[in-house]
Amino acid sequence: MTKTILRALAGEALPTPPIWMMRQAGRYLPEYRATRAEAGDFLSLCYTPDLAAEVTLQPIRRYNFDAAILFADILLVPQALGLDLWFVTGEGPRLSTVTTADQVAALKPTDAIHDTLSPVYETVRILSRELPQDTTLIGFAGAPWTVATYMVAGRGTKDQGPAHAMIAADRAAFRALIDRITDATIAYLSAQIEAGAEVVKLFDSWAGSLQGDDFTEFSLEPARKIIAALKARHPGIPVIAFPREAGDRYIGFARATGADCVALDNSVSADWAAANVQKDGCVQGNLDPRHMVTGGADLVAETRRIVDAFRGGPHIFNLGHGITPDANPDNVALMIETVRGA
Ligand code: CP3
Repeated sequence: MTKTILRALAGEALPTPPIWMMRQAGRYLPEYRATRAEAGDFLSLCYTPDLAAEVTLQPIRRYNFDAAILFADILLVPQALGLDLWFVTGEGPRLSTVTTADQVAALKPTDAIHDTLSPVYETVRILSRELPQDTTLIGFAGAPWTVATYMVAGRGTKDQGPAHAMIAADRAAFRALIDRITDATIAYLSAQIEAGAEVVKLFDSWAGSLQGDDFTEFSLEPARKIIAALKARHPGIPVIAFPREAGDRYIGFARATGADCVALDNSVSADWAAANVQKDGCVQGNLDPRHMVTGGADLVAETRRIVDAFRGGPHIFNLGHGITPDANPDNVALMIETVRGA
């Protein structure tokens, strides 16, 4: 009777892979846009537990995904550490910046993050009551490197240049920043688990821009630390790691960090990942999100190809990145039908 996602995460190859979708609650859904309008703005939506729970449930009602992902954002942690955060419509997030050792030292202590983040835990509590019995609740946080890139630049960047510049200018200060985010992430994910999250995922969306030792020090090592701390406190709670665009560094990432599953972006081929990554355990992915815009026979063929490639081992079907606002909700239904009927 165990939930399908938990069976896959425990290493079971299922005849039909369980399925959910990154950004499954989002602007491509009219019901999301309506609730967001009711909230007024994106951050109010994140911090109003009833509304955040409502948008989390919308894609479950519409599509019956096997998992729900908590509705929140990775940038709530920098805000909880004391930075200003706001979203500019049509452009994305803006934050006050941290670029020096003094500014790192001035961040709020780890224990203080719960003052800001407690509404998120309330959202998790509501969801664990309201989700259907066979739906798994996934909590999440940004990985320290990805979160740091926004804290240093004050916004999203194409090449994470400001964070790389801080590494070059003052590696010790950057390390201290990573350590502070690592501690906050452990506290944040532990609180989500205590509130009812059954799985947690670490989003390292910009892992691909780290080279050589920097990848080891700022992506792999913080993930290992976070996972070790979570496993010590909450044995049995699976962790999904998403070192996006890690390329051949996906190989061995689960073993080195203790992750139960790695999420694959759509730049790696499913056949390659089946041979090189899935041999260590569960993988999640990796349909190109553009198929949710274009649909049709290509969507069906690609979906089948991915299901077939990963059939020999544990697999959770997902996109390689978040669904985009211009996606057609009918294409999501077609993808699910294809996975479940394949
Ligand atoms: O997946 C889900 O449905 C859960 C909720 C979730 C959101 N963001 C909601 C959101 C999750 C897991 C995230 C993670 C996140 N947030 C990441 C890592 C994953 C990734 O996409 O690479 C990053 C880098 C962020 C930071 C962030 N949040 C950016 C850069 C933006 C603006 C870009 C955009 O798409 O507009 C956001 C806003 C955001 N977070 C939206 C949603 C649904 C859109 C906000 C809106 O309604 O206007």
